Amino acid sequence: MDVKVEARVKELRKLLQQASYAYYVLDCPIMEDAVYDQLYRELQNLENQYPQLITSDSPTQRVGEKPATQFFSVRHHVPLYSLENAFSVEELKAWEGRWLRQLGSEVEREYVCELKIDGNALALTYEKGVLVRGATRGDGIMGEDITQNVRTIRSIPLRLNLEGLETWERIEVRGEAFLPLDVFAQINGEREKNGETPFANPRNAAAGTLRQLDSRIVDKRRLDFFAYTLHIPGQDDAMIANTQWEALELLSKLGFKVNPHRRLCVSIQEVADYYRYWDTERLNLAYMTDGVVVKLNSFKLQEQLGFTQKFPRWAVALKYAAEEAPTVVENISVNVGRTGALTPLAEMRPVQLAGTTVSRATLHNSDRIAQLDIRIGDTVIVRKAGEIIPEVVRVLKELRPEITTPFVMPTHCPVCGQPVVKERDEAVSRCVNISCPAILKGAIEHWVSRDALDIRGVGEKLVHQLVDRGLVHSVADLYELTVSQIAGLERMGQKSAEKLVAAIAQSKNQPWSRVLYGLGIRHVGNVTAQILTEKFPTVADLSQASTAKISAIYGIGAEIADSIYNWFQVDSNQRLIARLQALGLQLANTQEELATNTTNQVLSGKIFVITGTLPSLKRDEAKALIQKAGGKVTDSVSKNTDFLVAGSEAGSKLKKAESLGIKIIDEAQLLAMLPDRN
Ligand code: IVH
Repeated sequence: MDVKVEARVKELRKLLQQASYAYYVLDCPIMEDAVYDQLYRELQNLENQYPQLITSDSPTQRVGEKPATQFFSVRHHVPLYSLENAFSVEELKAWEGRWLRQLGSEVEREYVCELKIDGNALALTYEKGVLVRGATRGDGIMGEDITQNVRTIRSIPLRLNLEGLETWERIEVRGEAFLPLDVFAQINGEREKNGETPFANPRNAAAGTLRQLDSRIVDKRRLDFFAYTLHIPGQDDAMIANTQWEALELLSKLGFKVNPHRRLCVSIQEVADYYRYWDTERLNLAYMTDGVVVKLNSFKLQEQLGFTQKFPRWAVALKYAAEEAPTVVENISVNVGRTGALTPLAEMRPVQLAGTTVSRATLHNSDRIAQLDIRIGDTVIVRKAGEIIPEVVRVLKELRPEITTPFVMPTHCPVCGQPVVKERDEAVSRCVNISCPAILKGAIEHWVSRDALDIRGVGEKLVHQLVDRGLVHSVADLYELTVSQIAGLERMGQKSAEKLVAAIAQSKNQPWSRVLYGLGIRHVGNVTAQILTEKFPTVADLSQASTAKISAIYGIGAEIADSIYNWFQVDSNQRLIARLQALGLQLANTQEELATNTTNQVLSGKIFVITGTLPSLKRDEAKALIQKAGGKVTDSVSKNTDFLVAGSEAGSKLKKAESLGIKIIDEAQLLAMLPDRN
């Protein structure tokens, strides 16, 4: 065989591996998708031609062809311990008191705080830098070998960057595999559609995914991984690094994704502040955390403290308030949403859950109700997972009162009284009466929402009044409301009515993509709307497109295409479009928007990180401006960052950018870089 082929295969692997590292670990792409795909295919072809060149760490070897028939038990090279829990700052201080008593109060108190990722622990074994095994935690001594599945996780390197550490024959890396919340929601949506029980939380969904026998399914689920410890079997951790902080840096250097929100604290007070800060901030993360893991930084001190039967004495899991609680179902009501879907809701005795009072939980649909066999009067366990609506997880049947009746889904819409429709392959019942007030209210609330026409000041109460008083029969009617009509409503004065009419009129300037999203066509989210309007610059283009033409667009599936096509076939929808057009809404891209893609991309290829509070722009706004100009915004500072936009109270990101010599700019400098905003 040609030596050139061998060299090319090596080179392709290196390029692909670098690109995938930049994309999945650094969240900072360096290669166009199309280029990646092309190089990948070239490698695949060469490997098909010369199978003797295939290595287990080749990027083509992430997904296995053959499903496994079972998983084998394996003994961990280094046991996995679990962590002692604390639920309050008092308990945290008691933990500090305990270890200080053991070591004497004069020792250095330096802690590493990490977010406790709510996923599944994995033990990864690397030999000579190559991933050879991935196992679940199991009981900490024995786990299950799920290497095939672990290999599909793109943020787990198949080969480590061992530069200078080549003497390390075998390395054990531990970390948490997790499902990002958006993937979790998507999987549950699909499960519900297929009439399967949704996963109770992202942790269960990740566990279920990791135990799939077919790695091709695991591959589709987009699991992610944060590394948090590394060991060399048979050697003290102190041989690897002096501190946990250094160990995390080392993991990052080896090629792992390490959680960027880690923090080094020099007092228990700082730890407590970190814990409180993340109690609310964690709701803005793309994954679930259920607490903070606090570890003593020094490996020497860790060694002196050692372990109890189950836990290390040098670490503690400081958890957030329980997210599950028992309560009693007082009523079961049925809500009708903007798509006409009937959603049964449990109305419950109010209960505290993850810091908020919960009195309603979704029961999803009639299948779920049948499965739970939930009845009025039942005691149930409710759960709140991240930002997801609370739900009932189980019924405590032993506490059921003597006389109860099973709940039956109504056959008629509880709002308009028309018969509901339940399609054979769907779990949900729907009201299909297009003038049903519930559907109309939902449609208007969607129309005015932030990502749609963004009309501020039109809340749920106002929408209800407008519909109930017969002032609005469609979203188009909003544009014909007069100040005196609005001023006559509850809690509305002349001034606020004027403001509202102006805000509604102002929304006529919103771009075509937002109007399309606002129409609330099923399956057309704001991203889909963006994609569609780029390909179909006018409403006429879209309304005349065949399903084949729509579904030919990358990222648009047949289901979405059908839904759009069918929507435009309905007469009343066509009339709505005509009216919106006559009212002056944007149903086509403006010349400027058409030009944006080419001429205004002044920040094209530049990578920004935003930190601290900016004087006038919100973070989202700054981000949108940068993106509009072709720039990219990432969460963490790395050597690939081009600019750090720093506001007041900028913290660790500013320090890091300074240390890496990255250009630091303020809001005014950012605005000066952008194309004319008018
Ligand atoms: S350290 C001896 N760090 O929490 C050290 N664990 O309740 C043990 N977890 O089994 C683990 N994030 O699955 C550690 N940053 C983190 C973590 C973390 C999540 C999980 C892990 C562990 C469980 C213990």
